Amino acid sequence: MHHFQYKGDELFAEEVAVKDIVAKVGSPVYIYSQATLERHFKAMDSAFAATPHTICYSVKANSNLAVLKTFINLGGGVDIVSGGELFRALQAGVDPKKVVYSGVGKRDDEIAYALETGILMFNVESELELDRLNEVAGRIGKKAGIAIRVNPDVDPETHPYITTGLKKAKFGINIERALEQYGRAKEMANIEILGIDCHIGSQLTKVSPFVDAIKKLKRLLTGMQDMGIQVKYLDLGGGLGIQYNDEAPPLPADYGTSILAETKDLGLHLLFEPGRNLVGNAGILVGTCLYTKKGEEKNFVIVDAGMNDLARPALYGSFHGVAPVRKDQDGSIVGDIVGPICESGDFLVKEREFPNFKQGDQIAFLSAGAYGFTMSSNYNSRPRVAEVMVKGDKFEVIREREKVEDLVRGESIPSFL
Ligand code: LLP
Repeated sequence: MHHFQYKGDELFAEEVAVKDIVAKVGSPVYIYSQATLERHFKAMDSAFAATPHTICYSVKANSNLAVLKTFINLGGGVDIVSGGELFRALQAGVDPKKVVYSGVGKRDDEIAYALETGILMFNVESELELDRLNEVAGRIGKKAGIAIRVNPDVDPETHPYITTGLKKAKFGINIERALEQYGRAKEMANIEILGIDCHIGSQLTKVSPFVDAIKKLKRLLTGMQDMGIQVKYLDLGGGLGIQYNDEAPPLPADYGTSILAETKDLGLHLLFEPGRNLVGNAGILVGTCLYTKKGEEKNFVIVDAGMNDLARPALYGSFHGVAPVRKDQDGSIVGDIVGPICESGDFLVKEREFPNFKQGDQIAFLSAGAYGFTMSSNYNSRPRVAEVMVKGDKFEVIREREKVEDLVRGESIPSFL
């Protein structure tokens, strides 16, 4: 459920007409519904109300300060993968004790920054990372709390680019080798073992892979107990999918029921790292039709938003729903909705039926709140678009549209030219 609905022929974001936002802020623009963000966070949080838990929102999905603040106000922590994400989360006021740090390539300076900040734990993705953590922590006189990110070798049955829990993936430590690494960690002076972690993939539309992963982690836990290693946290990562088109992912409540059934006797504090599920359907990208082109072979609608603004269709062939901001088109056509970028991969919609858009029509691309703005770039020297948050009948710009001057910020022409 989200709060982008029609009133008559006009698309609204909560109580605000989308056209009024575009009139004030321009096009293209990302628009987020605060009520939807809250609703999704609460749905996930209440699914685990029966057990101690923390929802550590995965910042990479949408890292705008206003989005982070929304979840922090509701008691959320964060899952970060870089020093930059840590900086953002701290700016938004996160409690460092609710920060978990994942990612296969943590640098020394990022590790030191996280240690100085006093984050809860590092999700360790390799043997060598464990050594680095121990060393950097020793150097600055801190202890690094850790979980090993275990790769349980289960198939999440999602897009190959966002499958992370198979043996062949670059992520985590294979489950057969995890025990040995926990053994090493136990002997390290500057490491404190706090938990077990896994994240098997993104946009999962079934609960069974999560349950399969937990079953494997439970066997590992038994092995750890035999070695005298006790943990406090079980981090089950993110990955619960959303509806983009005709998928029917489980509701957070059902996901909760299945996970609680598997974990209730463990006495562990559960951590979750949802990204997409909280923000995906809470955001839209609005663009404007610049031209239409009725080709002999194909119909094209050319809009002012491109693959640099929303990369998912070009990168993964992802489906994003299309909705006219004002429904006054004459019938529908079949074709592509494309951007201004000089690449054939620059499409937002490919070979689908959509309203017969005309020049000047504003078009909403739905379910764009996750991995939309965060994956946008300046390709073709296009300033990144504005972001707006709506709450009830109010809206505010939460990120200014970039100016052309921003494109060359930090660049210089060397003295020898
Ligand atoms: N935790 C870890 C360690 C992750 O790597 C990810 C996502 C998450 C949590 C959050 O997963 P979520 O709940 O959002 O599924 N750019 C792709 C998605 C990449 C996901 C990367 N990792 C897309 O646009 O579909």
